Parts: sequence; C-alpha cells; structure tokens
Amino acid sequence: MKKIIILCLLLSLFSCGLLEETNSSPDIADTPEELYNQMTYPEVIGQLNQMEWNTETPTTVKQHLLGSLLAGGGSSPTSNTPQAWLDQYNSLQAAAMSTRLGIPMLFGIDAVHGNNNVYGATIFPHNIGLGATRDAELVEEIAHITAIEVRAIGFHWNFAPCLAVAQDERWGRTYESYSENPQVVSELGAAAVRGYQGTSLSDKYSVLATIKHFVADGGTSGGTNEGNANMDEEILRSTHVFPYIAAIDAGAGALMPSFSSWNGEKMHGNDYLLTEVLKDELGFSGLIISDWTAHTQLPGTLHDQIRNAFVAGVDMFMTPYVFLGNEMDDLMNPNTSTSQAKIDEERIEEAVVNILTVKYDLNLFDNPYKDNSDLYLIGSTEHRAVAREAVRKSLVVLKNENGTLPLTTTQNILVAGSKADDLGSQCGGWTITWQGGTGDTTIGTTVLEAIHNKSSNVIYNATASNLTGIDRAAIVVGETPYAEGDGDTSNLDLTTRLTAQDKTAIKNLNASNVPYVVILFSGRAMIASDEIANSDAFIAAWLPGTEGDGIADILFGDYSPTGKLSFTWPDSMAQIPVNSTDDTYPSTEYLYPFGYGISY
Ligand code: BGC
Repeated sequence: MKKIIILCLLLSLFSCGLLEETNSSPDIADTPEELYNQMTYPEVIGQLNQMEWNTETPTTVKQHLLGSLLAGGGSSPTSNTPQAWLDQYNSLQAAAMSTRLGIPMLFGIDAVHGNNNVYGATIFPHNIGLGATRDAELVEEIAHITAIEVRAIGFHWNFAPCLAVAQDERWGRTYESYSENPQVVSELGAAAVRGYQGTSLSDKYSVLATIKHFVADGGTSGGTNEGNANMDEEILRSTHVFPYIAAIDAGAGALMPSFSSWNGEKMHGNDYLLTEVLKDELGFSGLIISDWTAHTQLPGTLHDQIRNAFVAGVDMFMTPYVFLGNEMDDLMNPNTSTSQAKIDEERIEEAVVNILTVKYDLNLFDNPYKDNSDLYLIGSTEHRAVAREAVRKSLVVLKNENGTLPLTTTQNILVAGSKADDLGSQCGGWTITWQGGTGDTTIGTTVLEAIHNKSSNVIYNATASNLTGIDRAAIVVGETPYAEGDGDTSNLDLTTRLTAQDKTAIKNLNASNVPYVVILFSGRAMIASDEIANSDAFIAAWLPGTEGDGIADILFGDYSPTGKLSFTWPDSMAQIPVNSTDDTYPSTEYLYPFGYGISY
C-alpha cells in the first residue's frame, strides 16, 4: 500500500511537471555488454519478450522482468487522452525501474501517419499520399513531428516507416507503401528514418525507427496479406531489398521481418535473408523485433518456432499475450534440463546486447520517465499546418476539364458524397483504432468543413437533387477504412464502394450541365474509369488525414496541384498487377502512368 501511495505521489508530481526527469538507475553498468554479464537467465529472457501494454500490469512487468511493451493498433487507455497515455506509461515504466537491475522498458507503438492511436493527435496522409508528394524534406519533417507527438506521451519506439514496395493494389496494406517504385520508397523511407531518429537517439524528440516488413511484404502473389512472394533473388533484391539499403545507411535502429514468405519460406525463419543478407552484407546492426505473434506461423512446436526465429536473427519477440518464459528457459538456460538443445550463448548475448544498446542510445537509463510538459504539442496548430501542406502536395489531379477547377468563392457550390463529412474515412485505417472508423473519430476538419471555411456559397446535398442555380459541384466518395488483411480484395471497382445516395448524386450530376469534381478517398488506385470519364474533374486524394483544409486549398486554387502518381492507375482489374518496374512498361495497358498528375 505504501508503495502505491508513493507511486501515486510520483505520478502526480510528473503530471504537474514539478519533477525533473531524473537518473533512476544510478548504479547501472557502463556498457550493454557489462550489464548483460550481470544478468540472470530470467532477466535475460524478460528482455527478449515484448508484450501488450494494456494487458500487462505493473505486477506482471515485475514478475516477467519484461524488456518491452507495445501499444498495438488502437490499444489506448480506457480514456483516450494524452494525459492518460502518459500516466499509464509512467506507471508501467516505474514497475520495470523497481526491479533488481532497474532496466527501463522500451515502449513501441505504430505511429504510422502521426501518433495515430492518440485522440487529438495530428494525422498526416498515409504513405501512399506522401509518395505522391515526392518531397523527402517534407516526409522528414512529418516524421520528426510524429516523433515529438510520440515522445510527448513517453513512448520512444515507432514501428515505422513501412518500406513495402507494393506491387498489387489488391493488397490491403497498399496505402502503407510510398510507391510501387523502389527508388521512391528508398528516398522517402530514408527521409522518414532521419525524421524519426533525428541526429541522435538521445535527443528529447527522437524515437527509434523500425523499417518494416523485411522483405517483399508488398510483393506477394495476388497482393495477399502475409502471403508468398514468388520471385527470383534478382527481383527480390532490385525491387524489395533496395529501399533497405538507404534506410540502413540513414541509421535505422530497428527492423521488423515480414509475416510473408519468400518462395514458400516464412521470413521470420529465414536466416539467409535476416542474417547473411541483412546483417552481414547490408550491415544492419540494430534490433530485430518480430511481428505480432509471427513466430507462431513457423513450422513445428512452440519451442521449434522460437528457436527457428531466434537463430535466424530475431532479437525480441512481439508476443503480446503469451509470455515465452518457460520455452525460452528450456532453450537458453544451461541449468534447466530438458530434451531441447541449447541455443548458442553468443546469439543470446548478441540479442540482449542489441536490445540494451538501444536503451542506452535512447538515454532511457537516465530518463526513464516523462513529464507532461510536451502534451500541449499533440495536435498543435503548427503540426496541423505541416499536415495541411502535406495534404495539398499529396493530391493528384487526374482530370480537369470544362474549367471545373479551381473553384471560386463567388460560385454557388454544391457538395455531395458519403465521404464529404466523414473524418474517419478521410483518415483511413490505423487511426484511433487498428481498422479505423467512420465519422468523428478524432479532432480534425472534413473536406466539407474545409470548403465551408473557404466560401459561404456552399450547400451540402447528399443526392445532388436540386442543382438549380449551382455553378460547380464536388462529390466526395471512396473506401471505408480497413487495415492489413481486412483490406485485401479482388474487386477494386469504385462503383461497388458507392452508397445508393452517391449513385443518385452522380446520376443527377451527369444529367445536368453543372461541371463537377470527384474527390476520391482511397488507400490505392481503384477501377474508376466510368466515374472518371463521366466527371469533369477527378482528384485522387488518398487517405489525407485530419487536415481537410489542404484539399480546399487545392480546390480553390490557393495552390496549384503538384502531386504525381506514385502508383500506376489501372483501367480494369485484368490489368493488375501493373507496375512501372515491369519489363514491358510503359507500353503496358493502364489508365494513367506512374508519375502522372496535372496542375492548373
Ligand atoms: C503489423 C505490424 C505492426 C504490429 C504491431 C502487426 O499486425 O503487421 O506492422 O507493427 O502489428 O502493431
């Protein structure tokens, strides 16, 4: 009870910002190697486990001597406020600091387009939109801002950037990919690493970056999530390994293997790629964190799976709900007698040292806790302004005829479409919840609100039923949020994503003389040939995030559009997959080529 009172007191002091972050591990060893030499097997094994922060408690953290916690997609505290995130962070970290060696835990999160689990955080366009900007400096700035908003709640490890070179838009994670083109992914991925990690991990606003998912997550047959990439090593290297070279060069401190397989072998057990290619050849020397329970997809018993992944190169296991204590003890502790052959101590030391090195580099031993002095930065006006710029630069105008755009403030404008006032759909998956949601899921500006911000001559009419006196119309349609395999589909026909009201609105607009623009929210290129042909103007807006004002900036011509397709836009499902890296490109069939996008 006394301890609880002291902890509460400590937490409230942090909350008030009265207590400076202090050195809580005064007697800590000077180097990771030295610290490793002081550790018992339970302490070693604890370091190798990463579990879910909402399921673990201070008691289980101490019991398992855990090395790390993660907040998976949507894993927010009961009350999703920045202060609640911070308090939960400090309370769990305090448990780790109270153990014999006082080794701070790493806290990982998927801040893949801003600190997207946290209500009120700035939500940037998903990577597919950033790819269209081709602006590495901007991507670096966005990553830096994301790092600030992550650090504000105490966390210091980001499971981003995703370096997938998505080759097939049927894949539900296409929007996490900057481009189908390895060169674009390479440039923007390295920029993101620089932005997250800053000049030094010990900086107050740096977070550890994780390049993922190694490798060819975006190259699976049919775009199947966690599927099989069937290709020779030359293509694997030139398309999918390629962006890792620049990201490793930029100093990426962590890496996550892919759930997927290469020619039938799961990446988590592939020692050739994880050790020979990645570590020995490409020189990656950071921390390898497995993906969510991915080791359980390897063949054999749980013991076999752990051994296989560990020996292949995985250092830390993301095992959200199952502590791998007994199995690891059987495999590692020479004093435990079992039928299992023991893993080489050298590999164990390497893994633990990789983990501890990151903790030293982040300066966590000196600064394990976080005060509330940066909470005000979450979703700040300055950060939102950068997100708005990113939205502007990410929009790709595919068509603009009949003087449709830009709109003017003297025109009477009708807005229609099921996504016009839907912030959740504007943000997409990985927003507040793992799958994302519709409606007012967080704080932001919808495109309808943004158009209202520009002009008072605006009405919303879902079905565009009365077009009398209307000069221009804008209809906002698109995909409903999804994440990972839930977004896999064999049908990308936009017509199938339109609501009955959307269809009526389009019908009414087609029957009128009112020039209209379609704004599409989607995580990928879609089969929209009819909608494009029938409309006067068409904008691929991707998943722009919370700052709808950036869309209005382009609609009203305050800025000329500069976004260029980072994916080839197909005309029919039969053309998929179609990529600028194909041998037959550009003579291949498609609607718009890679790099397409018009200005005013
Ligand atoms: C995803 C990873 C993510 C992890 C942790 C997995 O399902 O594949 O990209 O980092 O969850 O949330």
